[in-house]
Amino acid sequence: MKDSPIQQLAVSLKKGSCRQVVILTDSNVDKLYPDYFSSLESLGIQVQDKIVVAPGEESKNLSQVEKICARLLELGCDKSVCLLNFGGGMVSDLGGFSASVFKRGIHYVNCPTTLISMIDAAIGGKTGVNLLHTKNIIGLINQPLAVMKPDLDLLKTLPYQDLLSGFGEMIKYALIGLPKLFEELCGMEKLAVPGISQFWIESCAEFKQAVVSVDPNDTAYRHILNFGHTVGHAIEGACAMDGHPVPHGVAVAQGMLYEALLSRVFGSLPEESLRRIQRLILRYFEVNPMGDDMVDLVLELMERDKKNRDGDINFTILNEIGAAQSDYYLDSQTCRQFFELAFKEGFLTSPK
Ligand SMILES: NC(=O)c1ccc[n+]([C@@H]2O[C@H](COP(=O)([O-])OP(=O)(O)OC[C@H]3O[C@@H](n4cnc5c(N)ncnc54)[C@H](O)[C@@H]3O)[C@@H](O)[C@H]2O)c1
Repeated sequence: MKDSPIQQLAVSLKKGSCRQVVILTDSNVDKLYPDYFSSLESLGIQVQDKIVVAPGEESKNLSQVEKICARLLELGCDKSVCLLNFGGGMVSDLGGFSASVFKRGIHYVNCPTTLISMIDAAIGGKTGVNLLHTKNIIGLINQPLAVMKPDLDLLKTLPYQDLLSGFGEMIKYALIGLPKLFEELCGMEKLAVPGISQFWIESCAEFKQAVVSVDPNDTAYRHILNFGHTVGHAIEGACAMDGHPVPHGVAVAQGMLYEALLSRVFGSLPEESLRRIQRLILRYFEVNPMGDDMVDLVLELMERDKKNRDGDINFTILNEIGAAQSDYYLDSQTCRQFFELAFKEGFLTSPK
């Protein structure tokens, strides 16, 4: 019989000489799965404590990092303790960063509980927190000791909005490098947990791991993973500032629509491929025209994006479905002109 995700995790912890863990989770996940790791003790791993933070993006900040580090210090944790991040991308980003700066770095492992974290956030070692509504602007890259194998049972309790958010990132993987997955997603009847196959999750996770192995420090090739994110992060930040937060992958799905249009206008994405992308995304995601204030805010946040160089805005564009090209730069004036129009129009109808 195959080892369970927790048994495999225990093996990885021991290989890394970690026999003690502190669990970091959020209160939603804790309420649903209070005893998820109860078998760790019998597998030779001692759970020293559990730190529970409030759920949601608001917890991804520097003051939480300070609180987590203070708790680790109070517990007397030394370098042999591993922080076990049990949750979605918020928990792994926050926990990964806290572990990386505590005593200049202790080990951490990610145990993903959302679709987005299973296929994306838990993998690749990007850690960080937000500042002044700017996403992930404080952070560093530090690989986890291990990532727990996805446990699909955990997805059964995931609210639809969070499933949709993960689906947004799944579409991204299809568009940047998995064209067969794109065809399968187009053929999906409706978005629900039983319909999301383990194979799809593993394909996305393996694709991300492969990209990260080539360019772990995010110098060039890894930038293809940013498709949809220049606009998406700005929309996510602007909506949060406006008091109507949207989940990360939902903002990325909107970002992908705009960046696919950019790929058509400034790059070589064929018209028919653009229409297919629009049809798939608009089947699941609503993208309304933006008012003037929102347009200004989103553009301002894009101009503050950490990927920009010399004031030019960085994008990943698509040459075809399944073929992405990173580091396409647009000067800020052209960028403003193009997106001002696009944001005001939105995507109210799906092409036939
Ligand atoms: N580091 C990276 O490479 C990377 C990549 C993509 C996204 N991210 C980050 O990940 C975050 C978004 O990810 P997320 O959507 O997983 O965020 P999240 O951790 O905020 O989870 C979303 C919601 O789902 C709840 N939840 C988690 N697991 C659950 C379960 N099994 N059942 C019921 N509810 C559950 C959480 O409590 C939360 O309310 C953003 O902060 C984003 O910036 C990071």
